[in-house]
Amino acid sequence: MSDAPAEPRDRIERIAEQVARIKSENAHLVERVAESERRFRRISRGVLRLQEEERSRISRDLHDGIGQLLTALKIQLELLEHEAAGFSDLASRIAAARELSDTSLAEVRQLSHILRPQMLDELGLEPTLRWLARTFQKRTGIDVEVVLEGRERRADADLETLVYRIVQEALTNAARHSGARAVTVTLCRERRKLSVRIADRGTGFDADALLSASDEDRGFGVRAMRDRVEFVDGRFSLRSAPGEGTVVEAEIPLPEPAKETE
Ligand SMILES: Nc1ncnc2c1ncn2[C@@H]1O[C@H](COP(=O)(O)OP(=O)(O)O)[C@@H](O)[C@H]1O
Ligand SMILES: [Mg+2]
Repeated sequence: MSDAPAEPRDRIERIAEQVARIKSENAHLVERVAESERRFRRISRGVLRLQEEERSRISRDLHDGIGQLLTALKIQLELLEHEAAGFSDLASRIAAARELSDTSLAEVRQLSHILRPQMLDELGLEPTLRWLARTFQKRTGIDVEVVLEGRERRADADLETLVYRIVQEALTNAARHSGARAVTVTLCRERRKLSVRIADRGTGFDADALLSASDEDRGFGVRAMRDRVEFVDGRFSLRSAPGEGTVVEAEIPLPEPAKETE
């Protein structure tokens, strides 16, 4: 004889038990996904910090090592040039060598700054952005207006570096792809967030297609900007359309400031 059919009440209880079990398993899974996401962000932030430290070290070595040697060489050549003043042929060849050492020194300094401006650690974000805008303008002929809003103060070094890297990449993109004659960089400091906006009035492009494309090789620069901002729980947006220019915006949340001693 088959089992007697379970009472409806028993069946309902069994179903309720199953639902409760599934719910708790679900919650467990969601927590595991969230935990692995947190771990991934921690690791990514660590990798980015290591990369910045490495750049910083190479930048210092270039500046203080090769930079100092080239400065010494330049001084030696200047002295020689002076001593050879009576021998015009020799003096002009020495002058050419001195000019070469000058150019090399300028290039080493520029490379060192591009790798990681020491200024960022020493003076902070605002002066460094102004410097970046000036050198960019000199190099590319594109006008850069820098607008600074909010009271200037230092934020966490990693966050200032992040903003600097976004501006660096967005400016490079504007020069490489937009054909724009002018770019505006706006930095706005608020108590609990740091926002930056880089806008050009150039050719523009289909940004949605780029960001949703499965082809990971394209748009590496744009994706890296977006990912870096998301690692610190910030908001990133890139608005662009053919013929309408491009606006890159990032909002970085800041930790509660320590009590200020006024
Ligand atoms: N400011 C811009 N104006 C026009 N096109 C842009 C701009 N920024 C990005 N793009 C487009 O998006 C693409 C991806 O940019 P990015 O990820 O920085 O890669 P890359 O600069 O190496 O090409 C560019 O190749 C270009 O087509
Ligand atoms: Mg790029």
